Amino acid sequence: MKNYENVVIFDHPLIKHKVAILRSKDTDMKTFRELVEEITTLMTYEALKDVPTEKIIVETPLETVEQTVVKDDSVVIVPILRAGLGMVNGVHVLFPTAKVGHIGMYRNEETLEPVVYYCKLPVGIEEKMAIVVDPMLATGGSACDAIDLLKKNGCKKIKLMSILGAPEGVEKVATTHPDVNVYVSTLDRQLNEHGYILPGLGDAGDRLFGTK
Ligand code: PRP
Ligand code: URA
Repeated sequence: MKNYENVVIFDHPLIKHKVAILRSKDTDMKTFRELVEEITTLMTYEALKDVPTEKIIVETPLETVEQTVVKDDSVVIVPILRAGLGMVNGVHVLFPTAKVGHIGMYRNEETLEPVVYYCKLPVGIEEKMAIVVDPMLATGGSACDAIDLLKKNGCKKIKLMSILGAPEGVEKVATTHPDVNVYVSTLDRQLNEHGYILPGLGDAGDRLFGTK
């Protein structure tokens, strides 16, 4: 895959280690859920380094000093249901007061086209940094439609975080939405004929919620 200015693929041994365990078919649901959260937190640390900040005055026991803090209520987490829910806590670890907007979407298994069935976003989201989370970026259809929906709702600053990405999906989001920063923990090889990521980890929603 060629390099895109708006795409970051992580190359960190801690993430690689956790992704290796996540992929295994022998990893149980609880461990899978915990790993998704941990990888998300590691990604958030890097992906949100341009989060809005403000200056405050702090009195230490010795002096008064100006300090930088993260601006309150500046980030909204937007999971794509269902599997995106598994990443919400991983962002909340670092941004505990972030509001959450939900976009319900599933892929039609025949056409692989996303179908929107729910959308509830916090009031004022157009002024915030919206972080779309979905562990799997396969064809990129779901992510592109979710980003379109956010843009229609006035969002100007949007980031996407996915744990695994197929080259097809990463390229689709990177080119359809060049203004969106895309963070993928690991770039996988390809999609199979059913739109599953290879080598992948299977169906993220089913593995997170025990539905298969
Ligand atoms: C999965 C995944 C993404 C989508 C990715 O959701 O969580 O939302 O597929 O595929 P795409 O890039 O080709 O659009 P799924 O439809 O399995 O729904 P679920 O999260 O409810 O299991
Ligand atoms: N959705 C998943 O859960 N897994 C894939 O490999 C592709 C889409």
